[in-house]
Amino acid sequence: MQTIQFTVNGRGLSGACADRTHLGDFLRDTHRLTGTHLGCEHGVCGACTVLVDDKPVRSCITFAAACDGADIVTVEGYQDDAVMADLRAAFNRHHALQCGFCTPGMLATARDIVLRLPDADEATIRHELSGNLCRCTGYMGIVAAIRSVLQARREAAGVIARHAAVTTSAAVPFACFTVADEALGTAPHLAASPGADAERSADRKGWSRIEGSFTVPYAQEAVWAFMADLPAVAGCLPGAVLTEVAGDKVKGHIAIRFGPMSAKFDGAARLQRDDALRRGVLKGAGQDSLSNSKAAGDIAYQLKALSAHETEVKVDLQYSLQGPLAQFSRSGLVRDFVRRMIADFGKSVARRMDPTLSEAERNQVVRLNPVAMFFGVLWERIRRLFGAR
Ligand code: FES
Ligand code: FES
Repeated sequence: MQTIQFTVNGRGLSGACADRTHLGDFLRDTHRLTGTHLGCEHGVCGACTVLVDDKPVRSCITFAAACDGADIVTVEGYQDDAVMADLRAAFNRHHALQCGFCTPGMLATARDIVLRLPDADEATIRHELSGNLCRCTGYMGIVAAIRSVLQARREAAGVIARHAAVTTSAAVPFACFTVADEALGTAPHLAASPGADAERSADRKGWSRIEGSFTVPYAQEAVWAFMADLPAVAGCLPGAVLTEVAGDKVKGHIAIRFGPMSAKFDGAARLQRDDALRRGVLKGAGQDSLSNSKAAGDIAYQLKALSAHETEVKVDLQYSLQGPLAQFSRSGLVRDFVRRMIADFGKSVARRMDPTLSEAERNQVVRLNPVAMFFGVLWERIRRLFGAR
């Protein structure tokens, strides 16, 4: 057991929880916040969704201990939230609930849609809402309620803009990802520094960012040359297969498995490199046909010579997920998983560049066991939470 402290609905709270206690149980059993409903307890139905540091999170698959110090909002805590007030009224108006079991999670997701995707149309709303299940009402009323709130906010924004005689830039248009390489647009923007990319990512609403690095025992020149070889680089990514390579553009797919999650993204990507800065950006987009989730991302990397025979590769991944898999995009477990993937990618690069190995040995990717990796990441987080012992 350990004692954790966090803010729930604006109040500082503390309580003792077992290492395995999930946030949903902790909120309900320890703090009697029973507005958070538990349905599947497997991260599927979305009924248990609460806000953790203003992001929707499934409380049934979030350890309470991992939320130490966090700011949590449950359905009991939206009294002063203007968006939620509009949503509550709209749900009422459009008969968007019956038994109400799914409603706390629906409202949390709906609020996220309204704030993150102000131009969302019906198809987008349905897509974004696909991780929340309702067993009795059906979705027409729920979607209509969200649409009406979005419409009212757009109209209000238009009135304000006309009144001020300026063009409002508050609304960030929803961009549908497609896998066609034309959708990648012009050549990816190559920032002068990683810091500039970080600033750029701050402008991208709904995007997540993960940084990592690895070191390989080879000279910077050799690593830079290797990183230009897209088929070789793809060969270092477990599950990645290129089906088409044309200059700086590639098409292919990548299969990802992590514990109970699995996806296979088909997509296209384009690479731009700056020889002087030893810096590259791979910009891509793809779709998982199984879950119908869409992803877009930039992988920026920068090389730094640590010595004549050692190079550090800094990786800055910025990505956005839409659809059912979006619920996982910001979880700490997934962040740790990606960092582990970056480290394993580094091992594969070192192996591929090793001149003492045979070709067959070099081409051996560091294979990932999704179950072992899931529990490895989980264990690492638990060790960090309780201090490595
Ligand atoms: S109870 Fe958490 S997603 Fe179903
Ligand atoms: S209103 Fe009953 S489960 Fe959605």
